Amino acid sequence: MSAIYQEGKEPHPKERRIVFKNVDREGWDTSLAMYETEGGYDQLKKAVGMEPGAITDEVKKAGLRGRGGAGFPAGVKWGFLPQNNDKPVYLICNADESEPGTFKDRYIIHQDPHQLIEGMAIACFAVGANLAYIYIREEFPEGAQTLEKAIEEAHEKGYLGKNVLGSGFDLEIYVHRGAGAYICGEETGLIESLEGKRPYPRIKPPYFPAAMGLYLCPTIVNNVETLCHVKHILEVGGEEWSKIGTPNNTGTRILCVSGDVKKPGYYEVEVGTVTMGELINDICGGLNEGRSLKAVIPGGSSAKVLRADEVFTVGRGDDARKLTIWDIPMDFDTLAACGSMAGSGGVIVIDDSRSISWVLNNINNFYAHESCGQCTPCREGSLWMKKITDRVVAGKASPSDIDTLDNVARNIDGRTICAFGEACSWPTESFIDKFRDELVSDTNPELEGELLNAEAVTAAANLG
Ligand SMILES: Cc1cc2nc3c(=O)[nH]c(=O)nc-3n(C[C@H](O)[C@H](O)[C@H](O)COP(=O)(O)O)c2cc1C
Ligand code: SF4
Repeated sequence: MSAIYQEGKEPHPKERRIVFKNVDREGWDTSLAMYETEGGYDQLKKAVGMEPGAITDEVKKAGLRGRGGAGFPAGVKWGFLPQNNDKPVYLICNADESEPGTFKDRYIIHQDPHQLIEGMAIACFAVGANLAYIYIREEFPEGAQTLEKAIEEAHEKGYLGKNVLGSGFDLEIYVHRGAGAYICGEETGLIESLEGKRPYPRIKPPYFPAAMGLYLCPTIVNNVETLCHVKHILEVGGEEWSKIGTPNNTGTRILCVSGDVKKPGYYEVEVGTVTMGELINDICGGLNEGRSLKAVIPGGSSAKVLRADEVFTVGRGDDARKLTIWDIPMDFDTLAACGSMAGSGGVIVIDDSRSISWVLNNINNFYAHESCGQCTPCREGSLWMKKITDRVVAGKASPSDIDTLDNVARNIDGRTICAFGEACSWPTESFIDKFRDELVSDTNPELEGELLNAEAVTAAANLG
């Protein structure tokens, strides 16, 4: 049935609403009765009549890539679970939604919780998990309540609990509230937190969750949006679903656009069918009057920044082509080829009214606050990066502070337990690579030599 949307919240014609079909929909509510009016839980009914492995095969055929950040193929991840395993298998839905610039999972949870529960139930059946958790950040109390109510309703109707739909399969789903830390979005930090401990990420190897996850048992961690897609894959079949989007970048994904555009918001598009130019100029209504584009951070704050006047070469040999920022198709592979990433789908648009030093300092403040402190390069380095950009925005930095900043960043990534090391250093590295002149222009050569003396550092730290 085609959906009618609330006034002013209609999807753009270039969108294709699948996972967000019911978000902002006129007359839609979160009840099970409403969900069932449009085939709710039909795919779970189908799933419990299938061989579990056949569901994983469909997800593999679909080519579904994780929507939480790394874009790792979901079916392949499920296939990493050990065979002939005698330990329990767990599934965790990552609803921490902690990457700055990302605001999609919360709308699924708030407006269409049964879609997520159905997706999770199918995934649990496929991987043999009888117990699943939704790890949701503390800042979404309403979301946690909505999910709890939906789980209760699904239980009453036999979609969850003992002997799901008479299939012999048992499943319980629990909502677990985090305390609101970025690092709890990192899957092994999340697992530690779920176990009741401080969320110190675990080192990989050996602690790949599929092998040694929750309580050291095989565990699948997937993002909210990823798990919702599972239901739609089962509905049409993996092969058919893989025709949505572009090769190797299949399906739809929700892009969250923030920053300097006329219509920031969430937009579900077929992966790779919309360019950055179409996203900014058509879907988001363009830049603000009289402004020009300076830069875009395409995949959440940890993605490397793209400069507006760059020319990107993607592809190799005869397939090589040159792209401006406007031509970049919003897909995993092209954004990676352009030196950044699709990440969590958070697109941050920066126009020429913004100071690059201010933007970078804002990001560095976040990471310095969120480092879990377990490894020295990240704990110390993220704080030093913040302190140096504090000095830059305060006009108290010398030009060589930018070299120090570069040096600090490049001594973090690749030297830490978890990918937060890259997440916190890539912004600084890429901002220096792309905007060194502007950063240096915000420094004062007369301060050269006063570099990082204790007094200046303390003063700078106090600014934040
Ligand atoms: C520092 C950090 C924060 C992360 N935060 C989130 C998050 O908030 N939500 C999320 O789904 N994935 C997050 N991830 C990615 C998860 O570790 C994990 O890869 C993801 O939940 C897997 O789901 P997917 O394969 O469906 O994307 C984060 C990763 C890192 C390194
Ligand atoms: S990289 Fe940072 S966030 Fe990750 S474990 Fe080390 S200190 Fe913690």
